[in-house]
Amino acid sequence: MSTPEKPKLRSQAWFGRQDKMGFYYRSFLKNSGTPQDQFDGRPVIGICNTWSELTPCNGHFRDLAQHVRTGVIEAGGYPLEFPVSSLGEVTMRPTAMLFRNLAAMDVEEGIRAHPLDGVVLLMGCDKTTPALLMGAASADLPTIGVSGGPQLRGMYRGQIIGSGTNIISMSEQLRAGEITLDAFHEAEAGMNRSSGHCMTMGTASTMASMVEALGIGLPENAAIPATDARRNQLARMAGRRIVEMVGEDLTPSKILTRAAFENAIRTLAAIGGSTNAVVHLLAIAGRIGVDLTLADFDRLGREVHCLVDLMPAGRFLMEDFYYAGGLPVVLRTLGERGLLHKDAATVNGKSIWDNVRDADCFNRSVITPFEAPFKSDAGMAILRGNICPDGAVIKPSAASPDLLVHTGRAVVFESVEEMHAGVDDDSLDIDASCIMVLKNCGPKGYPGMAEVGNMPIPAKLLRQGVRDMIRISDARMSGTAYGTVVLHVAPEATAGGPLAFVKNGDTITLDVPARSLHLHIDDAEMEARRVAWTPPPPHAVRGYAKLYIDHVLQADRGADFDFLVGRTGSPVPRDNH
Ligand code: FES
Repeated sequence: MSTPEKPKLRSQAWFGRQDKMGFYYRSFLKNSGTPQDQFDGRPVIGICNTWSELTPCNGHFRDLAQHVRTGVIEAGGYPLEFPVSSLGEVTMRPTAMLFRNLAAMDVEEGIRAHPLDGVVLLMGCDKTTPALLMGAASADLPTIGVSGGPQLRGMYRGQIIGSGTNIISMSEQLRAGEITLDAFHEAEAGMNRSSGHCMTMGTASTMASMVEALGIGLPENAAIPATDARRNQLARMAGRRIVEMVGEDLTPSKILTRAAFENAIRTLAAIGGSTNAVVHLLAIAGRIGVDLTLADFDRLGREVHCLVDLMPAGRFLMEDFYYAGGLPVVLRTLGERGLLHKDAATVNGKSIWDNVRDADCFNRSVITPFEAPFKSDAGMAILRGNICPDGAVIKPSAASPDLLVHTGRAVVFESVEEMHAGVDDDSLDIDASCIMVLKNCGPKGYPGMAEVGNMPIPAKLLRQGVRDMIRISDARMSGTAYGTVVLHVAPEATAGGPLAFVKNGDTITLDVPARSLHLHIDDAEMEARRVAWTPPPPHAVRGYAKLYIDHVLQADRGADFDFLVGRTGSPVPRDNH
């Protein structure tokens, strides 16, 4: 009786050849001590690593990669680790977001060009997650995402402090003269006291949760702390599982379906996640051929409550979330409420519902029941109006309830430099009822759509005790930030969007329940201002920044490059001889 023929692996187009090129491909890899049997048709697994000392949140990834490697070998695969561009949120200028698409191209082409059958993605700091998912989605080889995990709770003088969130509050206390510079420095050391990414429900934790909710990561991926041994176990299990996935040909396009994205959007609301996830999910969906729109976020998020009492909106941190049961509890709750596509596939071969149906909650202060949620109706609100014809985003759960319907006088800054120069000037004509407007910080304008949308409250108003105001811009906001902040205005000012035509003294009405953002001028006046408008000069005339400015799509399209949208898959490239 003949045994069934094993499916021919992609990597065998390199390693399975008994000719001159086969000699090349195998021989050079043998310089690391690789024996001949590694080329015998076993799955070759790429470990795509974003380790960098310039990305401190991913600083433990060389260790994490070793656990993936062990799992791959245990399952009979051949692991090959490779570096890709890393994106350190706190170190890169002008903004790590400028380079998300560049890193995604690096990942896609790195996967496609090499003799790989499957990939494990190691990702943590904010933009590393969407960049790797976007690239892997375009390559469409079997893929598992492994997040690096959040840091331990920040501790400062007996208090728990959260990354980002307390930086913002403490820097405002410093500006208001409420704490000393020594105390400020002491808090820096206490905040980042372990490996891992930001431990609030900021962008990194949100995206790690999206990895789990999309089904492209293993259960528990979102919240296990970076320093908890169970994070290493998860990495090892991912190494084992990816070898099986190659045999099953379980590719991202079979997992990242519309149902998976709808699950992710509802999860985003249920965790009170970062507004940045809106842009990133749109971009990932664009890569895999799912027609996701801003309207999906508003529609799907409307029925969902925020179930987790985590900073920036709440009290606890990711470590607490994990001990309370983590994301599986949230997903189970959504499933019990009919808010989860239960049959969505996941990388472990089970449906998402099979993964979470028995998840228990161990702390109802951290993960609240649906009937008594931390915050009601927590989905992203998508605003429309004559300032933002293609949409704008606000996170009502992070906003002040008394500002959700408000009319005020516009105080306009043409650039972030103008804003920084003027915001603390006591002669600035502004009061707490005003609406701060910031222009030219969108994808093309900054460039890279920086996280400057949560403009600082003017110093003179801080001294009066004002802690929140309506702020509107075409920028993004850090996921660790909070406030009544309207973001991602599209089209952006630099691209000639109506935001460019707002003037000091104009009247603006924000009405979140009506999903409206309106500038009180008539169409004729808007058109007159459009005709009189001159676009600002581009920030770059060469290199990658010029490519970015020329090809980046607007925020409502995920700020991906126009030439990267659409499903392409990963053929074996042409031979090089
Ligand atoms: Fe890296 Fe926050 S700075 S996750």
